[in-house]
This record gives sequence, C-alpha cells and structure tokens, in this order.
Amino acid sequence: MCSIIGYLGLNQAAPIIVKGLKRMEYRGYDSVGVATFSDNQIVVRKGVGKVIEVNKAAKLDELSGNVGIGHTRWATHGMVTDTNAHPHPSSTGEVAIVHNGIITNHEELKQDLQQKGYAFKSQTDSEVIANLLQYHYDKTRDIKQSVVSTVADLRGDYAFVAVFEDGTLAAARMHEPLIIGIGKEGYFISSDVLGFVENTDEVIYLDNREFVIISKAGLHLFDFDANPVQHQITKVSKEFADVYKGEYAHFTLKEINEQPVTIMNAGMNTQLELDLATDFIRHARTLYITGSGTSYNAALVAKFLFSKYAKIKIEPIISSEAHFSPDIFEQQSILIALSQSGESADVLEAVNIAKGSNAKIISIVNIMTSSLSHLSSIAIGLGCGPEIGVAATKSFTAQLAILYKIVDKICGGCLGLDLARVSEAAKKSLADDSKIKEIAKKLKDVSDIYVLGRGIHYPIALESSLKLKELTYIHAEGLPGGELKHGPLALMDNNTYVIMINPDDSTYSDTLTSAREIKARGAKVIGISDKPSDVYDYWIEISKIDESMYPLVEIIPIQLLAYYAAVEKETDPDYPRNLAKSVTVK
Ligand code: AGP
Ligand code: GLU
Repeated sequence: MCSIIGYLGLNQAAPIIVKGLKRMEYRGYDSVGVATFSDNQIVVRKGVGKVIEVNKAAKLDELSGNVGIGHTRWATHGMVTDTNAHPHPSSTGEVAIVHNGIITNHEELKQDLQQKGYAFKSQTDSEVIANLLQYHYDKTRDIKQSVVSTVADLRGDYAFVAVFEDGTLAAARMHEPLIIGIGKEGYFISSDVLGFVENTDEVIYLDNREFVIISKAGLHLFDFDANPVQHQITKVSKEFADVYKGEYAHFTLKEINEQPVTIMNAGMNTQLELDLATDFIRHARTLYITGSGTSYNAALVAKFLFSKYAKIKIEPIISSEAHFSPDIFEQQSILIALSQSGESADVLEAVNIAKGSNAKIISIVNIMTSSLSHLSSIAIGLGCGPEIGVAATKSFTAQLAILYKIVDKICGGCLGLDLARVSEAAKKSLADDSKIKEIAKKLKDVSDIYVLGRGIHYPIALESSLKLKELTYIHAEGLPGGELKHGPLALMDNNTYVIMINPDDSTYSDTLTSAREIKARGAKVIGISDKPSDVYDYWIEISKIDESMYPLVEIIPIQLLAYYAAVEKETDPDYPRNLAKSVTVK
C-alpha cells in the first residue's frame, strides 16, 4: 500500500526521499510525489506512474532543500491523476502533507473548510488534512497546537507527514504504520523501515494516537492530548537491508527459490514463543485462526491439520468478515492471526474484535516489529526474510511449516515432521523448471484456469488460483474436486485448462476420476503429482513424500507456473496491477 516518507537533516532531502520511495515500491502504488522546503517556500512535484518514470519526467530528486516529504499513492478516494497524487499543499501553500489511509469524515470537514474560505484542488480525502492543519495554524501560529487540533477533528485511519513553511516536519499516527529513523546526519520518518534502513538502523516506533515534531532544534514526541511521550530507540535487524534481486530476474522468482531454506528455518528465531504458543493452543477452550488472502489459505490448511492430526477443532475466519459476524469470538478463546506484513488492516481489526472478547492473540508473522506483533500475547516469526514480491510465496510455506510444527508437537510427533525431506523435495521441483516454462507458454492465451484438489489439497487449489490471478491476470478458480459435477463441469470445453493437484495419497483415485470427466469434455488437464497418468495432457512431477506433507511441496511448481506465465504475458510479476503488498486500508 502507499508509502510516506519525510527527511530533515544535513543532506539534500529529495534524492534521499526518492531512493526511500524506490525501496518501498514493493508495497504497491499508482502515483508519486515529493515536496521540499527551500528558500522559505514549499515546492511540490508529482505525477502518475512508477518512481523512476515520474522522477525522469518531473525531476523529483532535483528539488533543493534539506527538508522534504514524499509519497507513493494507492488511490482510495479520487481517480489516479497527477492532481490527486500527493503531496497536497494547503490552499495558501504554507503546509503540505502526505497521507496514508482514509479520512472517513473528509466530506463534512471539506465543506466546513470551504465555507471558511479554504480552496481544494483534488478529489482526495487527504487534502482536508493540509487545509485543516493550515486552518488551525492560521489561528495559533503554533505547529504543535495545530496538530493537536487537527487530529482531534479527523476520523478514520491515517499516518501523515506535514512540512510547514518554516521547514518543520510534523507526523501523526492513527492505525497506519509510522516509524522514525534517527541517523547521524538527519531524521527520517517513514511507513516502513526499508524507507531509510540504508541510512540508519536506529528507530523509534510511534504508537497509535501519537505525533512527532522534528525541527533543527531536535525531535519531540507527544500523544494526541499534547502530553510529551518517551520512547526507547531500538535497532532494526540488518536483514531488512537485504532486499536485492541478486542473480534473479524478479524478486518473486528469488523468493520462490528461497523456499528450500525458508521452510527449514521457519520459526527458528522464536523457538520459545513457538513452544509457549503450542502449550496455550493445546489447552484452549475455543480456537480460531484468521488471515487475509494467502494467509487465510494457510488458515484453511491449518483447519485440516489440526482436526485430522491434533484432534483439535479450529475455526478459520476471513479477517475482513469478522466485523460482520456478531459475537463471533467466544469469551477467553485463542485467536491465531496469520500475516506476512503484520499490517493488514482487516487482520488488525479481527484481532481487536477478538481482544474485545478477551481472546489471547498468538500471531504468526514475518515483520516482528509490526502492529500485529505489538497487539499479540505471543508472536512467532516466520523468519523468511523480506518478501518483496506482492504475491506471497515463501511467507505462505513458512506459515505452513510453523503450523505443521505446532500440530506435530501437539500430536506427539504423529506427523513425523521432516522439514529437511520437504526442503529436498522443494529443491527438486525448483531444479528443473523447463517443463513448467513450456506449459506457461500454453497458458499465455488462455482465459480461464481451474485448479482442483480434494481434502488438504483444496486450500492449495485456492492458493494456486490466487497466485495465477495475481501474477497473470487470468481468471482462475480453486475448487474442491468433488464439486465439479455440481456445476463447474458446465464450463469445461476445449479452451479450458484444469490443474489437478493429485499426489498419490488418499485423494488420488477420486481426483483422477474428476480428471477423466474433465478430459471427456475436451479441457486440457495439467497433473501435479508424483505418479504419471495418461489422463494428463501435461504432467508436473513432484517428489513422493509423507501424505500430510504434500501441501508444502505441491504449491511450489504452481507458484513457478504462475510466475513464468506472467513473464510470458509480460505482466510485472513483482508488482501486479492494482495490488499492494501491505493492505493497510479496509
Ligand atoms: C498474497 O499473494 C496477496 N498479495 C494477499 O492476498 C496477501 O496474502 C494478503 O493481503 C494478506 O497479507 P498479509 O499476510 O501481509 O496480512
Ligand atoms: N486516501 C488517500 C488517497 O486516495 C491516500 C491513499 C493512500 O494511502 O495512498 O489519496
């Protein structure tokens, strides 16, 4: 989702800001802008497109001044246009802001401010922040007071950074991420550590309902009631700086290829937390598991594993639905929250609802400094390193590996969990992808793909179809194999491709029967299996492994297939259109 950044220091702000925005590109965006303060005025440059394109056209990094703000926008209110791109100056130009989030009462605030004579240029909700700050600043000429009054008027979720006419920065946080970096040559404020980690690893995490004022005189933190607050400076892990593609064409391909290692390492840095969480789960009265997108698909695998092997019932809840399901959480239950980013607004909302029912929160999360980790009683780290590609790949298998570990502990080792064996099987799938590349060429002009799986393979079918949609923009649907004859069979014809997830386990022969029914209707069948069959038009071989472990192995060739089909279609596999890595709005 959008990124905001601010800098005040000894160096030229604009090049630092543009570099920071580039490093945060993976979060997803549609337009870019920078404003700097120089010669007693604020100058704004912005436009629609990638950082590199807008920078080339508008020379963002040539703006002068030692103070500045920057933004990559992911439009929620107003079209993707140059005018709607951030930063937004106030009508008199004495303040400019960048904003992440949604101001829910923007319409009434705008009307009120217009009546008071403040003019608006954009269709965004964000512009009210600039004019509201200006309005309160006009009344008081006091930056701290104008921030306090502004946040008292605003409703919704937001993080914003403002630059004032005297070169002061002010930034406030309400349910959207905001992190301060303290460098030797300047201060940074950003949505993501990646925005400044090249310059400093010393950070302060702002809490919700807090703001910071940064000027040449230093940095001052306050809560929304204007009381000063203190925060420890913490050091962030250097692994965050390790975000280069190396020898790979795309981050997504690199991350798919990292899985033999990340599966093995999952949860290793938080072993104590994992043990503790397992104990709590074992004794839970009621157990829920939540997530969005890929993380929810991992939750569906968990449901199967917990009931079959640990003999524990766990109810999966789509995070975005929690709000609409009254009294969904029983009192004193345990909620396992799955999230790569730890910043998905839907997941945070589900967690807060559960906390309202006194639930204990156990999170399984990649970014250990995220809002979700802070909200949890126990946070288990995926430990798979930064995942930059918008499509989740290695974080999914790391989530699964941790869930497998928990279940295996609870059932006294009944899974015979052997992640080294899984890792070997993953390596094999990755070693020779020539067949997958060939099949990807065939998918290039296909309009519909169905992915079928039974039992524990059904959530993998869902995850596979999500990968295909995100990366290739081809319509894809995951189905439980048995449901085919109850409707979807009507869609099968010569133009349809069906991927059958069909390892040689208890689901094998039923799924093979479905494959024959599909073949009889002229559709092309791709089999993902350790056993060949004449029914497959294309066979993607996976390694034979214990029945319960197949999900970790079978998803990998499908991730590769989606990736190579995207390359064939010339879509951008790392940054699919319209999508964002951390979905921080509802
Ligand atoms: C995955 O490929 C998607 N980009 C998306 O569905 C993602 O899994 C979802 O937004 C949840 O993100 P999180 O794990 O960071 O909470
Ligand atoms: N709601 C604002 C807009 O549409 C900010 C969106 C964002 O977070 O990028 O401009």
